[in-house]
Amino acid sequence: MAVGVFDSGLGGLTVFDAVSKRLPDVAFVYYGDNAHAPYGVRDAEDIFNLTCAGVERLWQEGCDLVILACNTASAAALRRMQETWVPKGKRVLGVFVPLIEALTERQWGDNSPPREVAVKHVALFATPATVASRAFQRELAFRAIGVDVEAQPCGGVVDAIEQGDEILAEALVRSHVEALLRRMPNPEAAVLGCTHYPLMARAFQEALGEGVKVYSQANLVAESLADYLHRHPDFIGSGTETRFLTTGNPKSVSSKATQFLRRRIEFESA
Ligand code: DGL
Repeated sequence: MAVGVFDSGLGGLTVFDAVSKRLPDVAFVYYGDNAHAPYGVRDAEDIFNLTCAGVERLWQEGCDLVILACNTASAAALRRMQETWVPKGKRVLGVFVPLIEALTERQWGDNSPPREVAVKHVALFATPATVASRAFQRELAFRAIGVDVEAQPCGGVVDAIEQGDEILAEALVRSHVEALLRRMPNPEAAVLGCTHYPLMARAFQEALGEGVKVYSQANLVAESLADYLHRHPDFIGSGTETRFLTTGNPKSVSSKATQFLRRRIEFESA
């Protein structure tokens, strides 16, 4: 038994990297649905079905707790999964809430009414499906008032990353940032609302300029998972071996994962 980490492809590795460093004694099973990435251009029904299939596979590995290290799945499928599909004794958690808590300077579980926060102009970069869901704005509205969010659907970026084409991914990041800055010239903060984007964090920061605080999820999710497992130690499980599963071609997925994380990652067939 271990903790499951799910993503449509390689992006969740940014979360895996942070959680495995924060919790070195916990075993993780990673599932990348590379055969069906990107999710960001699919409809909600499709994303729900693919995400359930992946999470089910992780349950077969004995992972009673699964982190959806994918904003698109968290935005388009998580609520429906929790309300209609997750059986008793299992948990599926998303990656949105820790990020919004950090942005709105809240502690975990602070359910007080929404209030004014320091940051007023926020740029959101995410997949087309995440932007269309408006899940980020909805979660933010529960906690903060008076925050102006300008969202940029970053078409093509996940595809380029999945293909291992860093040069194309960087060029796309620059053009998406320019498009957003035309509509919101002076954001105070930028949210990388897709777990693939931290792999391009430098390109985002350079295009936005040093004055913009860039929030990405990996470390925030790691802190939040550590806190959750402290309160629910039964979900740690007794597994000792971390494994990586993919629906894609294990050889090519392993080589791209190794290129991005700059350490050897060996995937096996899901
Ligand atoms: N890493 C996923 C996310 O956080 C990418 C989704 C996709 O496959 O388009 O949204």
